Amino acid sequence: MKCESTYFYHAFLSILFVAVLESCCSESEQPSAPSYPVMKKPVTAKKSDIPSEVKSLLAKSTCLGCHKVDKKLIGPSYKEIAARGYSEEEIISLIKQPVQENWPDYPPMAPITWVVDEDLFTIATWITSLEVDK
Ligand code: HEC
Repeated sequence: MKCESTYFYHAFLSILFVAVLESCCSESEQPSAPSYPVMKKPVTAKKSDIPSEVKSLLAKSTCLGCHKVDKKLIGPSYKEIAARGYSEEEIISLIKQPVQENWPDYPPMAPITWVVDEDLFTIATWITSLEVDK
């Protein structure tokens, strides 16, 4: 008889053990919400703002009527032009003597002959400095 009760005692203990083990493990397996804050993309400064000295040059030279910084207008955006990887000298010569074949989807740009080289250089340097969206 003694033997039997020990058996039951052991059976009871092992059931208890399994129950405790299960409650413990299932608890740890529960999906828990991440405790760290979800990071948003860091806010970067807008690069499409035109510095005031360049903006007044572009306005004075009528460029803004056909070109915007990051949107297609009559002509390609300055960022699109920047993506072509021209040097400042190439940009200056293309403003004076546009090559329409470079932009088959656009009407030809009339040669701009009234802007002095110094101003064209400022504009060209600004174009090559633009951050290009890849
Ligand atoms: C009447 C509209 C118009 C004006 C004004 C204008 N553009 Fe353009 N521009 C275009 C068009 C259209 C193109 C694309 C076709 C082409 O190159 O002929 C272009 C192309 C360009 C290109 C790219 C050239 C190439 O071959 O990749 C540059 C750089 C440029 N313009 C700069 C300027 C600047 C700087 C001014 C002001 C001094 C200016 N544009 C004024 C319409 C204009």
